[in-house]
Amino acid sequence: MSDATTAEPRVVLVTGASTGFGRLIAETLARRGHRVFAGLRDIGGRNERATAELAAFAEAEAVDLRVVELDVTDQASADRAVAAVVSAAGRIDVVVNNAGGIFAGPAEAFTADEVRRQFDVNVLGAVRVNRAALPHLREQGTGALIQVGSVAARVTVPFSGLYAASKAALAALTEAWHDELAPFGVESIAVDPASYPTNIGVNATMPADPERLAPYGTAFGGYVAALTERATTAVPGDPREVSDAVVTLVETPNGKRPRRTVVAPAAQQEAVEALNRAAEAAAIAVATDMGVTAFAAPR
Ligand SMILES: NC(=O)c1ccc[n+]([C@@H]2O[C@H](COP(=O)([O-])OP(=O)(O)OC[C@H]3O[C@@H](n4cnc5c(N)ncnc54)[C@H](OP(=O)(O)O)[C@@H]3O)[C@@H](O)[C@H]2O)c1
Repeated sequence: MSDATTAEPRVVLVTGASTGFGRLIAETLARRGHRVFAGLRDIGGRNERATAELAAFAEAEAVDLRVVELDVTDQASADRAVAAVVSAAGRIDVVVNNAGGIFAGPAEAFTADEVRRQFDVNVLGAVRVNRAALPHLREQGTGALIQVGSVAARVTVPFSGLYAASKAALAALTEAWHDELAPFGVESIAVDPASYPTNIGVNATMPADPERLAPYGTAFGGYVAALTERATTAVPGDPREVSDAVVTLVETPNGKRPRRTVVAPAAQQEAVEALNRAAEAAAIAVATDMGVTAFAAPR
């Protein structure tokens, strides 16, 4: 994606912008002339370096990017971050809910507390940030919530049950927000990437209970080895495919954004888009039978 854009500059808050997709999304949007607020947690500690790097980037490139402290597991932090954006820019056009992580391992091996932590970031994180932003978006009568989901919202492979469940929950909320917010001129959409080389793998959380993990040791070990081998031998995808898709959606006029965008190798993309089309048809059938089509946005 080139640096030049003819799109109207937008005020955008990106969560989880320290690394990976979030960092690329924030930097690319800023280079294209948008006013970017990069949400990072713990800017004085674990993300001190990333914060300094982003400040140096903004200065060197003479772009409008600033870091805001934002831990998506904390409602007060989300409220403060959104307030900082609105106070500095006078409005907020787009929220990119990108912060997330993966708990990888056999579903049985995770405690309920670990499941809660997976959902706390991947699902409740977006709930908190959107709850903070929505009064402003509704009052403006325009704006967009972009959730970074995953193909795992539709397809579950072994040992990624917690992650897939969290992304499926986020996808369901994204659909509800889409229909419920349409009358206010606010869009809610999902970007669903396949697997891309970011820090998500090294940041993965494994089950802490060795006893429950032990029976799965051989299978889970083989799974991790297969993933590692594939990552080192296969041509890795370029995470810019994902950040560019998000940037395109930020720049798409309100009311014109697709509900879901799948970013994946061709065969995966085709298969998941077929599921999405079937889900669209099912949603229409269910809403019709329930007599609630008047409350759904046009499909
Ligand atoms: N890479 C893939 O294969 C892939 C595929 C599909 C979907 N996704 C999704 O893409 C999104 C970005 O992931 P990534 O691949 O770019 O991984 P990543 O490089 O590990 O980045 C994850 C980001 O989320 C942030 N984060 C985690 N917990 C947070 C919290 N409580 N508050 C604020 N920020 C928090 C991290 O910040 P810290 O640096 O502070 O930890 C980091 O900036 C995630 O939602 C992920 O599920 C990734």
